Amino acid sequence: MTTPPTTHLELAEVIAARVPAQVAAILEAFASAGATVRDALATAPLMSLLGSTGTTNVQQESTAKLDDLANDVMHQALRLPGVARLISEEDTVAVELGDGPYTCAFDPLDGSSNIGVAAVGSVLGVFEGVPAGGLSEATPVTGRQLLASAFIVYGVPTIMVLATPGRVDGFAYDPADRSWRLAFPALRAAQAQYTSINWTYRDRWSPAVTRSVDAASAGLRGRYSGSMVEDVLRVLMSGGVFLYPEDSASPAGKLRMLYEICPIGLIMEAAGGAATDGARAVLDVPVTTIHQRGPLVAGAADAVERYRVAYTAPD
Ligand code: AHG
Ligand code: MN
Ligand code: MN
Repeated sequence: MTTPPTTHLELAEVIAARVPAQVAAILEAFASAGATVRDALATAPLMSLLGSTGTTNVQQESTAKLDDLANDVMHQALRLPGVARLISEEDTVAVELGDGPYTCAFDPLDGSSNIGVAAVGSVLGVFEGVPAGGLSEATPVTGRQLLASAFIVYGVPTIMVLATPGRVDGFAYDPADRSWRLAFPALRAAQAQYTSINWTYRDRWSPAVTRSVDAASAGLRGRYSGSMVEDVLRVLMSGGVFLYPEDSASPAGKLRMLYEICPIGLIMEAAGGAATDGARAVLDVPVTTIHQRGPLVAGAADAVERYRVAYTAPD
């Protein structure tokens, strides 16, 4: 096997000048936790780590053993100086840690239905300015309070996409030395080629959603994995749009604002793309509860704009 070149910058070198030191430590801890989750996924079939715990989480979703494992790994990694609270998809309530400017929201394992068969990932958002008492109707937060966001896709290669406002980079994981190195500097949301949506839900969509999905997808080729992170990575690498609109089974949308939609919204805007709920940029939507859901249409700016125009047109 050839030795990989070490000319690619390490994660710490890339982010040091872009975020406060405590945020850099959070992002490095997320990457390191990701390496641990990746190792667990790699040997899961041999370690009795596939399958369900037999319980459901606060969202009434069946919890996989690896959902639990990834949640524990992320919790351990992110208890850091400056972090006031941790919000996880798998937890009923926010975990309050004490004083500090930052709130970390995370999806420990995204795409759980693909565990053992296809790529899954992890998502992180680092918010600042969340009031001491947490989120409420009186004290909403928005994605504009994100200092940074990132997601990992545990594929081959394992890739982490990391954004701060105005800049997105892609890092590749090197298992030889457990490093994350800059492999895709300054990612841009390219011209759309692919459209990613669960088309089997077409009969659940309103007329506005149906015409908007068709408008956004016109001329594009379909790809849908069931892991948002994988589909969003394709949007960044190959060009496209990812859509999970509201439907009759999920009237508010399925994806969650704090640890799915907002982190992807920051990444898309920083890459020159866009992310909307149909009417508003997802980063402008007030979030008042930790597991609040929303619709998400994210990717190349022209495709997202076609969705928005069709969605907001009079019936
Ligand atoms: P999670 O596994 O964290 O609950 O998220 C799954 C999400 C997302 O990754 C994916 O795009 C979507 O759910 C798939 O849902 P459908 O099976 O309804 O298409
Ligand atoms: Mn998810
Ligand atoms: Mn999840």
